[in-house]
Amino acid sequence: MALSKRSKAAAPPPAVQAPASAVADVSLPTDPFLAGRELLGRCPDGALLQTRWDRWGRDLIEGLAPIYDIPAVLPRIIEGIIAAHDQRKPSLRQRDLERSYQPDWYQQSSMVGYAMYADRFAGDLNGVRDNIDYLNDLGVTYLHLMPLLKPRTGPNDGGYAVASYREVKPELGTMDDLEGLADELHGNDISLTLDLVLNHVADQHDWAVRARAGEAKYRDYFFCYADRAQPDLLEQTLPEIFPDFAPGSFTWDDDMRGWVWTTFNAWQWDLNWANPDVFCEFADVILYLANRGADCLRLDAIAFIWKRVGTDCQGQPEVHAITQALRAIAHIAAPALILKAEAIVAPQLLVPYLGQGEHAGKVSEIAYHNSLMVQIWSALAARDARLMARALGRFPTVPTTSAWGTYARCHDDIGWAIDDADAAAVGYNGFWHRRFLADFYKGDHPGSFSRGDHFQVNEETGDRRTSGTAASMTGIELALSSGDEGLLQLAIDRLHCVYAMVYGFGGIPLLFMGDELALTNDYGFVDVPEHADDNRWLHRPAMPWTLAESRSDLGTVHGKVFSAVRHLGHTRRELPQLHAATQTEVLVPHDPAIVLFVRRHAAGLYVGVFNISDSWRTFPGGFLRNLGLGGDSARAFEHLQGQQLALLDEISIPPYAAWWLTA
Ligand code: GLC
Repeated sequence: MALSKRSKAAAPPPAVQAPASAVADVSLPTDPFLAGRELLGRCPDGALLQTRWDRWGRDLIEGLAPIYDIPAVLPRIIEGIIAAHDQRKPSLRQRDLERSYQPDWYQQSSMVGYAMYADRFAGDLNGVRDNIDYLNDLGVTYLHLMPLLKPRTGPNDGGYAVASYREVKPELGTMDDLEGLADELHGNDISLTLDLVLNHVADQHDWAVRARAGEAKYRDYFFCYADRAQPDLLEQTLPEIFPDFAPGSFTWDDDMRGWVWTTFNAWQWDLNWANPDVFCEFADVILYLANRGADCLRLDAIAFIWKRVGTDCQGQPEVHAITQALRAIAHIAAPALILKAEAIVAPQLLVPYLGQGEHAGKVSEIAYHNSLMVQIWSALAARDARLMARALGRFPTVPTTSAWGTYARCHDDIGWAIDDADAAAVGYNGFWHRRFLADFYKGDHPGSFSRGDHFQVNEETGDRRTSGTAASMTGIELALSSGDEGLLQLAIDRLHCVYAMVYGFGGIPLLFMGDELALTNDYGFVDVPEHADDNRWLHRPAMPWTLAESRSDLGTVHGKVFSAVRHLGHTRRELPQLHAATQTEVLVPHDPAIVLFVRRHAAGLYVGVFNISDSWRTFPGGFLRNLGLGGDSARAFEHLQGQQLALLDEISIPPYAAWWLTA
């Protein structure tokens, strides 16, 4: 099966044809860059679009070149760009302009992200709009609304099985409501992130319906095999994503008379991105959502979009070329829009999603720091941060124009992505450490403070992932049931320490709805037949507004946690050192329970100090002085408590304390 067309890169690009709507009497230059420039120049706002083309046009051509027939796709792309630019309303054009003066807007330390399901937060989109005050109170500047486009009926993987990219799920509202919400968020200095599911569509999406009805054009949008030969071959190297409830990667479909590629659930049909029509459809969808007010698109399961026999079909080179081309299109038509990669992959495979080598600075601006997330939980369970320092220390440099999305919990399970070599380097066995973490966070391990559950136990590989809220995983659920006040305070401090690492690493901290109120697991998810078999709903609770309304009551658990998390966001704002352009070094200088985040910024040195254990620890202040903190005064300023810290020879640090120090 020749799924890759990379060989095309070597051939000289054939001449570009003018689109039907363009003035076709002038022949176009054969160089696709010049041809694109010329086509843009013919539209009313030609000079502006040409200026943007000069900046991003080559990124587009280089992204397309290894995969598509440029003369065939470029005119369609240009037509789409011109149409989208034409329809872009004045307020969004103003946003484009503002962001061209502030291209690092998503890297600034004022960024505080929040992810929520609109219905679970406030019923629907208008409900979210009515509760923006709550987000302002928390200091939120970036809102990720979980999937809200029209999903299939019946099970839909929390909305990740999209039936229409141009309609909102009716229960949540309409496209106009979404646009109104985006305007209101913008007025509150909050940018809006939406999901773009591009690996698959729902089996009820029009493309799938038409493929099933036998339309050849749409059959080519998918992968379908008449017999098991190819699926069997592919499955030899494909991982199983949902071995419990959706084993295998292909699903027989009677109407298609074949095995359809379905990496995730049987009703999520993988798209064939080698087909230029699929690329052009998504280019249009991106610009459509940008014009509705999206500031950022979260590229769902982006690793999976390119298939190659003999591989795990994740992170193939074409994934990055396609992302580069899509981003260039977005930047030419709607420069205010950025991309965020959701690639939950092994640590050494993560950085290419922010751009490496030929794609440096040309793909997604943001990527989830899955590895930091895993390492925070690992360090907490083992009371040992050496593995974190080792794993993060091996991360290659990321582009200075990118930002990590740092997080402790999201709507998904935690996959224990610990690299065997990293584990061995600090004296662990990778397999048994992963097993320990899964058991620890389920609450099965002696001494565990966590209450979670296994998600997708794979008997063949021994892999088991974990579900649970941050509060349940940090011990708040257990402490509440024990009634022990001391235990409860320790658990609150533990949750705070986790979020202080997330907010104090650099990049955009992404708070998952409910964590700020220490919401524990929602065991009622089993009563909803649609998702009773998917325990990721354990950590997707609904917003309890009575609790939220008493969030300023510092005598309650939720009040304490809310005020602490809000304080992290407000403190971050004042620390330019947390701007994402600077990289973080992770050090464990002395005691494995003390971890340092060191950021050398032109504004001055920043050192985050975290005690990830439940006991008092001491460490030598000389280490901080040698890093450059304190100078002659031998004092640093600790921002979270707003006080001086004397850098004594021996510094004592309380259990789960988090200090953000500058000189
Ligand atoms: C992403 C989503 C996850 C979903 C999967 C398939 O990983 O985060 O919730 O199940 O993609 O769309």
